[in-house]
Amino acid sequence: GFDIGKLRAQTGLVTMDSGYGNTAAYKSAITYLDGEKGILRYRGYPIEQLAERGSFLESAYLLIHGELPTATQLDDFREEISRHTLLHEDVKRFFDGFPRDAHPMAMLSSVVSALSTFYQDSHNPFDERQVHLSTIRLLAKLPTIAAYAYKKSIGQPLLYPDNSLGFIENFLMMTFAVPSERFEADPVVVDALDKLLILHADHEQNCSTSTVRLVGSSQANLFASISAGINALWGPLHGGANAEVLEMLERIRNDGGDVDAFLNKVKNKEDGVRLMGFGHRVYKNFDPRAKIIKTAADDVLGKLGVKDELLEIALKLEERALADDYFVERKLYPNVDFYSGLIYRAMGFPTNAFTVLFAIGRLPGWIAHWREMIASGSRIGRPRQVYVGEEQRDYVPLDQR
Ligand code: ACO
Repeated sequence: GFDIGKLRAQTGLVTMDSGYGNTAAYKSAITYLDGEKGILRYRGYPIEQLAERGSFLESAYLLIHGELPTATQLDDFREEISRHTLLHEDVKRFFDGFPRDAHPMAMLSSVVSALSTFYQDSHNPFDERQVHLSTIRLLAKLPTIAAYAYKKSIGQPLLYPDNSLGFIENFLMMTFAVPSERFEADPVVVDALDKLLILHADHEQNCSTSTVRLVGSSQANLFASISAGINALWGPLHGGANAEVLEMLERIRNDGGDVDAFLNKVKNKEDGVRLMGFGHRVYKNFDPRAKIIKTAADDVLGKLGVKDELLEIALKLEERALADDYFVERKLYPNVDFYSGLIYRAMGFPTNAFTVLFAIGRLPGWIAHWREMIASGSRIGRPRQVYVGEEQRDYVPLDQR
């Protein structure tokens, strides 16, 4: 076949592909995505079926191991994760050091990075036992870290996990319970959160996953690579968009709820304003996750009896945008983040925690990609560039400049 490496060696030619819009860096057997048809499958299973009938831990197992678990395998996986949910008491102390108003994503990535100081038996990416243990530790501890970041921000005590609870229930308990009161998670919230995490669990070579792979391609350990992925996810054009959507809806409401005035601003590109939660690098007809989430938003808000005027604004925004030439021509549709924030809000999460929830969901995908890359013996990731700087210049001594 055609070998671009050989051609480059012969001609010095490099391909320029801004944002890697057309460059495949890997072969991958994890997630299939067809942006034109709006198809998303994990290991061949349609996202609609997994979200409707599966559980988050089952999808995590599927992404990481390639097959749906048997009942025994799933029980063992759950059991093993539940035995690793505690944070070392010294890790807990990190939360004393962070300022109270620290962004939870910054706390999350810092603490995950710090895990590699505690688990020094996990630095060899080629040792299967170590990689297995790091996988379990991350899946088990990320919800604990996320809950502690939230507790820190509201000044409440950090609660120990209760391993008699399910994965989602345990996370909700550590997040929302207070020591003096009985807490029981609402099953509507448990189901909806489980579904949202499934929908976020993988999305092939997105920005954060590519980051995890790039860092891991230097053979950095799993904690270090995942911490980098969390930071990549934080940005408003990626996972940070779910929080930005909510802030946008609030701004529109506070300005009197004029959806058309806002859309005009977007279309005129005033101050670079974008319709957050719209558009996707790959989906050009619809985002299949957004379809599921829109229905879930209606359902959850209905069941919880939450009447949210921001939902009304979101529905109106979507309707107007989908009928508007600007958005139609550019193939801009609601993405996974457009409605997810409204559900998180109805569940009681503050806006700055939304991206953390995305990180908990995306974790199995990051792990699966890191493991696939290590197992395939990939080369170190190292893009080329087109140099546009100065030609050679002679050094000018300081007193002559
Ligand atoms: N609102 C208004 N205009 C938009 C939007 C938007 N949300 N998204 C893209 N456009 C416009 C661009 O201005 C550009 O038009 P122009 O040529 O007239 O300037 C055209 O559509 C193409 O946009 P690009 O930025 O080239 O598209 P790209 O594929 O690079 O970006 C992205 C994809 C980042 C998702 C973009 O659509 C965006 O910024 N959306 C808002 C943020 C968001 O919701 N991010 C979440 C993505 S999904 C996820 O991470 C889970």
